[in-house]
Amino acid sequence: MIKIAIDGPSGAGKSTLAKALAARLGIIYVDTGALYRAVGYYVKSKGVDPQDSVAVEELLPEINIGLKYECGVQNVYLNGENLGDKIRQPEISMYASAVSAIPAVRKFLLETQKSIAREHSVVMDGRDIGTVILPDADIKIFLTATDEVRARRRYNELLAKGIEVKYEDVLAEMKERDARDRSREIAPAIPAPDAVILDNSDCTNEESVEDVLRIIKEKL
Ligand code: DC
Repeated sequence: MIKIAIDGPSGAGKSTLAKALAARLGIIYVDTGALYRAVGYYVKSKGVDPQDSVAVEELLPEINIGLKYECGVQNVYLNGENLGDKIRQPEISMYASAVSAIPAVRKFLLETQKSIAREHSVVMDGRDIGTVILPDADIKIFLTATDEVRARRRYNELLAKGIEVKYEDVLAEMKERDARDRSREIAPAIPAPDAVILDNSDCTNEESVEDVLRIIKEKL
C-alpha cells in the first residue's frame, strides 16, 4: 500500500496532479475538498449561515455523505443524490471554506477519509492530508503557485464549465478563501514539516507529474 498526500492552496493544480499520478500508479484518487463542498452545499440549501458553528453542527446528523468510485471517477453522494458539478460553483467554494473551519465538521468527515486510506493505496488531495489525515503518508507534497497563476487557472476552469465570472473576482475570492484556510485554528492549510514544497507556477501539468514521480522514486 502506498499513500501520497497532496496539499496546497486552491488553484495550485492539486487535483490535476493527483489524478494524473493516481492514473500512472494505478491507485485511487481521493478529492477531500469535495466532502467539505458537500457539507457546504447542504448548509446553503438549508439557508444556514456557514459561519454559525452551532447551527451548522445541528445540521450534521441530517447529512449522509458517501464517496463512490464509478468508471474511474470519484462521485460524491449527499443523502443518496450524486452532487456532480453542483458543488463546483464559486459560491459553494466559499461555503466549503467557511464550514471547514468548524471543528465538528472536520470531525464529522475524518473517518470517511481515514477509512478509504486504510483500505486502498491512495493519492489524496486537500489541505490537511499530510498533517492530520495521513501523518504517516509515504510521500507528502505541498503544491503551490503564485496568486495570479492560480487565479488564472481557476478562472479558465470556471469559464470552460460555462460559469460566468470576472478574473478580478476570482482572484479576490481565492485570496480570501486561502487566508481563511491558512489561518484557521484547526488543521490549517500549511505544509507538514516533512512535506516537499513544489511551486509549479512555471511548469506544465506533465512536468509537475514528472517532478513528483521523481520524488517518489528517490524516496521509496
Ligand atoms: O480543494 P477544494 O477547493 O475543493 O476545497 C474546498 C474547501 O474545503 C477549501 O477552501 C478548504 C476545505 N478543505 C479543507 O479544509 N480540508 C481539506 N482536506 C480539503 C478541503
